[in-house]
Amino acid sequence: MTERIVGARLGYEDSETLSRFLATGGDQGLRRAVLEMRPEEVADEVTTANLLGRGGAGFEAGRKWSMLRKAPRRYLVINGDESEPATFKDHLLVERDPHQLVEGATIAAYAIGASLVVIYLRGEFALGLERVQQAINEAYARNALGRSIFGSSFSVDILLQPGAGAYICGEETSLIESLEGKRGFPRIKPPYFPAVIGLYGEPTIVNNVETVSNLPWIVQHGGAAFKALGEGRSTGTRLFALSGQVQRPGPYEVEMTKITFRDLIYGKEYGQGLHPDRSLIAFIPGGVSAPWFFPENLDIPLGQDEVAKAGSMLGSGSVIVMDDSSCPVRSAWRIARFFARESCGQCTPCREGGAWIDKILRRIEEGEGREADLDLLLDLCDNISPGIKWPPAQTTICVLGPSIPPSVSAAVNHFRDDFLVHIKEGRCPHA
Ligand code: NAI
Ligand code: SF4
Repeated sequence: MTERIVGARLGYEDSETLSRFLATGGDQGLRRAVLEMRPEEVADEVTTANLLGRGGAGFEAGRKWSMLRKAPRRYLVINGDESEPATFKDHLLVERDPHQLVEGATIAAYAIGASLVVIYLRGEFALGLERVQQAINEAYARNALGRSIFGSSFSVDILLQPGAGAYICGEETSLIESLEGKRGFPRIKPPYFPAVIGLYGEPTIVNNVETVSNLPWIVQHGGAAFKALGEGRSTGTRLFALSGQVQRPGPYEVEMTKITFRDLIYGKEYGQGLHPDRSLIAFIPGGVSAPWFFPENLDIPLGQDEVAKAGSMLGSGSVIVMDDSSCPVRSAWRIARFFARESCGQCTPCREGGAWIDKILRRIEEGEGREADLDLLLDLCDNISPGIKWPPAQTTICVLGPSIPPSVSAAVNHFRDDFLVHIKEGRCPHA
């Protein structure tokens, strides 16, 4: 773990405790914000920082805040329902630095004038839920939360809400439905951009855990200092969750654009390369919704636009490495099966297309496929996401459906021979 901004405390064994938080600059950002700055000044710093949302879409946080409809009641929801396979950076921040999260959420609430904050955490984060609740309780006890925070005129409460195990509730409008006590069905946006019509119909900002965890640092050091890190639109640092077949998987906080995927996967400070005698066949640069990259893409820098230009996305910051012992057919099937199972079922292309792709990949994997299945798979992908391009041309309410085709089409197009061995010889060439 390389610590810089959000991970600055993670090198300490007791990073989650209040004493460590206070001994390492905790509360200073919040004090500065509520005692020395106006809410607009805090928002301006975040705009200057060009902090891109860390949930996956990379939307500018300051711009999102500026879109918040004016209304007497406004809400802030912190999205900590991190559930995508191989994405584990929010989990770490929630468990290992819950005070920073609470401080960041309170700063965001001050900047946007929220009357209530809800932190929505994945229900399976049992330890994280316990620690965040304790951090909230301790914040109330020292007047860092509640009425007249640190003697200022700003008051806000934070509620902690566990999710109930549905991946789709990480999609922001579905999360809002779930908070309202309804089934987690995504809403159509527009018009239901939460900034306009959100929780209980009131304007709501939904920010990711890592996004708000950056705020104490930004307020203390200034937006310009944050922007000085990285390059272009990719400013500051990001927590990358490196997993798969590398020697040293784990979370790494790196300055945006300063290192390449080759550095992250092979660098001594980071992944330390593949296991001996293995070679890289592919890697996914930004979570399982992202189009795959191949060895020729290793020298692309870890930057939002750099990855987008090469046809993929940085997404949720999880980098998954596949060496020649992994089967691309099985990998694509596992990913498609995950999405098919988590589909909420509202849209036909996602519900039906996902289930069909799951079935077809399964029969190929089990040695019962047909050669015609390959074109059928690509046709199904094209029906879910016409043109099979990224970002997708959307035929569905949310992006869960269009998250299926990138892996399936990458596997079929780049590893056709592997599919043919499964189909013609009924065996896996990687077994
Ligand atoms: P999006 O691009 O629709 O929206 C991004 C944010 O900007 C949202 O908060 C949205 O409300 C806001 N926004 C966009 N246009 C706006 C406008 N005109 N007015 C007001 N607000 C506006 O993307 P979405 O669907 O929120 O997120 C998709 C991403 O989430 C995927 O790219 C994927 O990488 C990521 N993801 C992350 C997961 C995780 O576990 N962290 C799990 C699954 C997906
Ligand atoms: Fe539900 Fe899938 Fe439609 Fe999203 S794309 S709303 S998960 S059916």
